[in-house]
Amino acid sequence: MRHFLSIRDHTAEEIEALVTRAVQIWQGAAPKKLSGAFATVFYENSTRTRLSFQRAAEMLGLSHLQISQEGSSIRKGETLEDTLRTMRALGAVGAAVRTPQSHALEDVPRQDLGLSLINAGDGWAGHPTQALADLAACRVSIGSVRGRRMLIVGDVLHSRVARSCAEAFRLLGATLQFAGPPTLLPEGLAEALGGERVEIDRAIGEADLVLVLRLQRERQEKGYLPNVAEYRRYWGLTEERYARLGPQARVLHPGPQNRGIEIDAAVVTAEQSLIGLQVRAGVHARAALLEEVLSDAH
Ligand code: CP
Repeated sequence: MRHFLSIRDHTAEEIEALVTRAVQIWQGAAPKKLSGAFATVFYENSTRTRLSFQRAAEMLGLSHLQISQEGSSIRKGETLEDTLRTMRALGAVGAAVRTPQSHALEDVPRQDLGLSLINAGDGWAGHPTQALADLAACRVSIGSVRGRRMLIVGDVLHSRVARSCAEAFRLLGATLQFAGPPTLLPEGLAEALGGERVEIDRAIGEADLVLVLRLQRERQEKGYLPNVAEYRRYWGLTEERYARLGPQARVLHPGPQNRGIEIDAAVVTAEQSLIGLQVRAGVHARAALLEEVLSDAH
């Protein structure tokens, strides 16, 4: 594995192996020691993803080159490819890249770049390392996801997390259900992602995993929603809906949360919430991934 751009490029065995290794590192196994630098190239804001790549790189003995639009020559018009070539010249052996455009890394000529590339979130298309983190958090909390019923709720249309988690959890044997307003879960999207559309209040009591999606207000054009109070009422994981979860169920949210809109504040830190665990899992999942993509190639 040299690059990690999409869950779709990988087999169930490869994804399972990464999750297993993430949990081993989490439980104290020593990560491999690598040399050189790892770059985070972010064209969008991030807290969890960027800092967990930084922590993971440090665990493997790599130094960290951080670049964002503000304060860099990206603002002068430098292209993504030239920015990545500059990172290579500065000693980077790999780079995690976040872009507002879907599939941006697919246009970068990877053969002669000399860098392993990781998709850290691209537009609506994918956020595959979030899916690895979420699988690792589930592995630690409930074990295998095989046979578990996952309910994905909310702004599926604009969610790269929904796409990557749907691909990854289904690949590892979970069944998928989707609920959301028709404007944000249009006809046919649930089926295109390998699941079925359900009514949230009918499905929630049977769900094993409830993935609450952030309302992607920065990506929305006008007209998707009447208002956020109605969104919470019809689609939010409110305290009332949380109380109807089975004892086996766990709540996931990739963060950052819009508290009081797609999820109530009390649910974020509730006993069956994995939200804090997902962030911790993100460091170990990314350490396992960096080991895998960087150790053979460099
Ligand atoms: N889940 C996630 O991608 O969060 P950040 O935008 O903070 O990285």
